Amino acid sequence: MLLAALFLSACSSNNEPKAETTGQQQDLGSTLVVYYSFSGDCSNIVGSLTQLITADVARVEPAQDGVDYAANNYQAGADLINAINSAPNNAGSYPAIKNVNKDVSSYDHVIIVTPLWHSRMAAPMQAYLFQNAAKIAGKQVAMIVSSYSSGISGVVSDANRLLPGATFTTNALWINNSNPSRTASLLSEWIDNINFTQPTMNNEKINVIVGDRKFIATLEQNATAQAFRNMLPMTLSMNELNGNEKYHYLDSSLPTQATSPGTIHTGDIMLYGASCVVLFYDTFNTSYSYTPIGHIDNPEGLREALGTGGISVSFERINTGIDRVAADPLRSGDSAVYTIDGRRVGTPEHGIYIKNGKKIIR
Ligand SMILES: Cc1cc2nc3c(=O)[nH]c(=O)nc-3n(C[C@H](O)[C@H](O)[C@H](O)COP(=O)(O)O)c2cc1C
Repeated sequence: MLLAALFLSACSSNNEPKAETTGQQQDLGSTLVVYYSFSGDCSNIVGSLTQLITADVARVEPAQDGVDYAANNYQAGADLINAINSAPNNAGSYPAIKNVNKDVSSYDHVIIVTPLWHSRMAAPMQAYLFQNAAKIAGKQVAMIVSSYSSGISGVVSDANRLLPGATFTTNALWINNSNPSRTASLLSEWIDNINFTQPTMNNEKINVIVGDRKFIATLEQNATAQAFRNMLPMTLSMNELNGNEKYHYLDSSLPTQATSPGTIHTGDIMLYGASCVVLFYDTFNTSYSYTPIGHIDNPEGLREALGTGGISVSFERINTGIDRVAADPLRSGDSAVYTIDGRRVGTPEHGIYIKNGKKIIR
């Protein structure tokens, strides 16, 4: 255990990550940065990180405000870590945390930024990962750990234990907060090794929701569909045109590769130009060009559901589990078998499982 005086010198102000950016940010695909910070170091790290990459940010916070985890030689923090260590599979061992305002299910990749407490992952972040393991299973994950001086192997094993279904694409980055001026250069070197890859879109399905009707659509395997998918979930206020289509102009452009389809089919989801999403509810011939995004599998009842005027249509991803598996440097040697929602199993029955970071089918 380190001395309180040692830690105190390391604590910086509780700054929020800065939203503004300078220079060119790297786009790692749809990424959520989830962080916890007691004394501000991880907040600062996230501020530097979001200068370098495009990502959404979510903060984990303990349900109980105002607890001084550093008081009495870090006793409150030690109590939380000891409770987890004594029964790590028991939900009651983890401290209560507030609702996190971003749903991790909607992202392909997750970057965890956490302090080290008593050589383990800080208890509130452990609570978040324990509660969200099923949602993070199958995703690509990377982790940054801030400590005063202790090495981070205990935090890495906590991450492995808490997220058995995740794929860690690179070694965790240790930021030793005794030298914060090195943070920016450490981060930019590490980001080059993250290797997050776009998920393979293999006939991926999405929900298209109109009022109380839910239609299932299959996405095209092209960059336009991929970019559209990365925007989901979203609800579009769609305008009526010609008794056969509803359309909405997005705020941003998507990649295009427009061709003339000749015939439009009921249930086609197309991009007109670079930003106009069109949902067709009739079959007819056209001379216009579009980039296909997807098609509603069974469009029966679509015309009735859409009606004759403007209407709100929601598009959301269907979580089909893992669609991409890569080598997992953190978990090599772990031969345990996990379900795709991250539960460890003894003898797997028929189904899809994860072993040694790879998808296996029994
Ligand atoms: C309860 C508690 C326990 C800690 N235990 C350790 C430790 O064992 N080793 C260490 O090097 N730093 C330890 N620290 C220091 C933090 O890991 C370090 O200051 C980190 O950068 C804090 O991040 P934050 O400012 O985002 O909360 C501890 C801090 C707290 C609050």
